[in-house]
Amino acid sequence: MTQDPQSTKSRQHAATQDPKPAKSLRNTAAMVGRAVPILDQAVSAGLMHVTLQDRANKRVRLDDGRVVTEFINCSYLGLDLHPAVLAGAKQVLDDWGIHLCCARSRFSIGPNALLEDGLSALFRGRAITFPSVTSTHMSVLPLLASGVLLDDRHPRPMRVIFDRFAHASMQYLKPILAEEAQVCTIPHNDLDALRSQVQEAHACGQRAVYLADGVYSMGGMCPVTDLIAMAQELDFALYIDDAHGTSIFGEQGEGYVLSQIQGPLPEQVFVCFSLAKGFGCNGGGIVLPNTRTERLIRQFGQTYNFSAPLDFSLIGGALAALELHRNGEVRRLQTQLDRQIALFVYGEAQQPTPPLVSATSSHLILPNTRNHDVMVPFLTWNEHDRPIDGRLGPIRMVFVGEEARGIDWGQKLIERGYFVSAAFFPVVPRGRSQLRIAITAGHDRQQILGLRDALRDIAEASGVLSVA
Ligand SMILES: Cc1ncc(COP(=O)(O)O)c(C=O)c1O
Repeated sequence: MTQDPQSTKSRQHAATQDPKPAKSLRNTAAMVGRAVPILDQAVSAGLMHVTLQDRANKRVRLDDGRVVTEFINCSYLGLDLHPAVLAGAKQVLDDWGIHLCCARSRFSIGPNALLEDGLSALFRGRAITFPSVTSTHMSVLPLLASGVLLDDRHPRPMRVIFDRFAHASMQYLKPILAEEAQVCTIPHNDLDALRSQVQEAHACGQRAVYLADGVYSMGGMCPVTDLIAMAQELDFALYIDDAHGTSIFGEQGEGYVLSQIQGPLPEQVFVCFSLAKGFGCNGGGIVLPNTRTERLIRQFGQTYNFSAPLDFSLIGGALAALELHRNGEVRRLQTQLDRQIALFVYGEAQQPTPPLVSATSSHLILPNTRNHDVMVPFLTWNEHDRPIDGRLGPIRMVFVGEEARGIDWGQKLIERGYFVSAAFFPVVPRGRSQLRIAITAGHDRQQILGLRDALRDIAEASGVLSVA
């Protein structure tokens, strides 16, 4: 567990003693220095910063003219191309124009209020939309860290506990939050470490909040039912970014976190949703447990007051997408998505046991590799990526290891007609590059089996996988 050293008072004191305070929560220059060489190589290799020339569902034309099947776009249900969503976007554009250039603290438009009412019903709490999930965090997290979201009359000092893999858009705010609260980081999904941190916080008179993702952007999920039980037992708050779980989990697409909760959102639970991934539009927002916290965010949320609202076309698109959540279309597409994920994970056999490696020994670890990190679990899951209610997440990771191999495999996949995200430091630790594969309902059988075969061939040819 890492104790992020900058709590409010000690940091202020240190800052007065030392005009150049230690950069313990953020060190952009060091990060850039380490990341530049590899990112430059990835760009030169055509794996990053690619401008597409055209698109036909999952088939895209790259800037060098090659046509590939992409596994990048996280519109898991294909709603971004749904005719009803496109028509909804055009309708609000026609009625309202593109944008009113003013803060929402002055004017909101009727369709935005309608969207928030509909999302509140879907998410069983009070929903506020923002132009992105990042701007949602910017508005909500400082208020949470200040203590006022939990009790605005008698706010107590807070301890903000980050999961090590909580999304970068939350980690980015650590220095800001450290001005308001004690900030610390615990290992991924480590409930024992969480328990100790919360108990320590309470012993110091602090209230605690745990920050995690619902479905992690690099694969796996948080143990949400255990977290909620522990939060009730120990009396602490949860702030869960469920961007990747939105729409693809839950009977009506209410998301992974809400699909595991009966009834209204519990007090002290805050859930972020995205409108950009399974929802098929753009933007995001927060579901709150009560109108008191809603009022505070609408009055004091930084980006609510000093940044743009959702684009009007997105409001129209999201209203139409919301209807698809209500009328059963999203449920139907979820089933199609599940079929495609299962096809990728299990192959044609569609058996509950991956054919190449077992669920318990999910990683094929090679000898003589640095950090034992060349693993090929692409057909299986790891301990944090087990099926929930029999369903697997759509983000499948291939642990490749050395950056040079990540680039090599990414390029070889393009030659075979597939484009996947190659992830490098700072997104993943140095020397532990990964391929990230976003499976969607819009992929067809041939595309999924083709990628699977290509990955296996490339892994075999590189000598990191031997198939019995
Ligand atoms: C888990 C998670 N949270 C937040 C974000 C940022 O979302 P946005 O682009 O809406 O700011 C992402 C981006 O993909 C994400 O994966």
